[in-house]
Amino acid sequence: MTDYEKLKRDINNRLGIDLNAYKEQQMRRRINQWLDRYNLTSYDELIKKIDADSEHQAKFVEYLTINTSNFFRDSSVFKVIEEQVLPSISKNNRPRIWSAGASIGAEIYSIAILMKEYGFVPGQLFATDLDEVILRKAQEGVYLSNQIAGMDQKYLETYFTKRDDGTWAIHDIIKRQVSFKKHDLLKDPYGRNFDLILCRNVFIYFTSETQARLIHNFVQSLKPHGYFIVGSAEQIMDPASFGLERVSYCIYQKTV
Ligand SMILES: C[S@@+](CC[C@H](N)C(=O)[O-])C[C@H]1O[C@@H](n2cnc3c(N)ncnc32)[C@H](O)[C@@H]1O
Repeated sequence: MTDYEKLKRDINNRLGIDLNAYKEQQMRRRINQWLDRYNLTSYDELIKKIDADSEHQAKFVEYLTINTSNFFRDSSVFKVIEEQVLPSISKNNRPRIWSAGASIGAEIYSIAILMKEYGFVPGQLFATDLDEVILRKAQEGVYLSNQIAGMDQKYLETYFTKRDDGTWAIHDIIKRQVSFKKHDLLKDPYGRNFDLILCRNVFIYFTSETQARLIHNFVQSLKPHGYFIVGSAEQIMDPASFGLERVSYCIYQKTV
């Protein structure tokens, strides 16, 4: 067994993260950068450190899963969500919406803000991630200036309070609409009957076989004509083979 094979097994046993599904070159590069940063000389030393130091373990998971996000990320995509997707799924319906790989919650809270603005009533707003530390941050709903940068000033004033330390806290009226839950896209069962699923900036880390398996699962989880949105760098090459058609460049709709 190579060192990396052993590391993958050790990480899966301890952290429940299956690195086989992630692009190997990218992951190895990131893990090696982590070793350099903490002066660790081998994968075994990393595992020892993870076992001995729970704070190091939590930081490593956060680093490995790459949870950069911000409100209204990719404004052109949010424009289509606002003008086309939300009105369509809210017509005579209380939509069920799932943000998968939700990170700090910025994506699902952006959706919740838009729904509130337009008077659309959600059936359920659901946000999941593999990383429990980031889910706790999402539930706290306190953000740095760069995470809310570019947001419409009107939304900032209506739905956030600036705190003395310069961070921004999202209001309860938005927060309490969202249910957060730990969910591993690779291992856990998927919910059903969603009107809209967003899984953005998560696929890029997975191998193409894993991506195809996940897209298939997501399509099963959508209602007929439900929408599926991926990241702007993650366009689906042959949407028809998954039972999807392209609505806009990274927005898809289930064909039946
Ligand atoms: C770059 S963030 C994307 C956040 C948000 N969707 C956005 O586009 O702004 C990627 C998220 O995917 C999560 N993730 C990675 N692998 C996952 C898996 N197997 N199951 C669930 N979430 C995963 C990470 O923890 C991280 O929070």
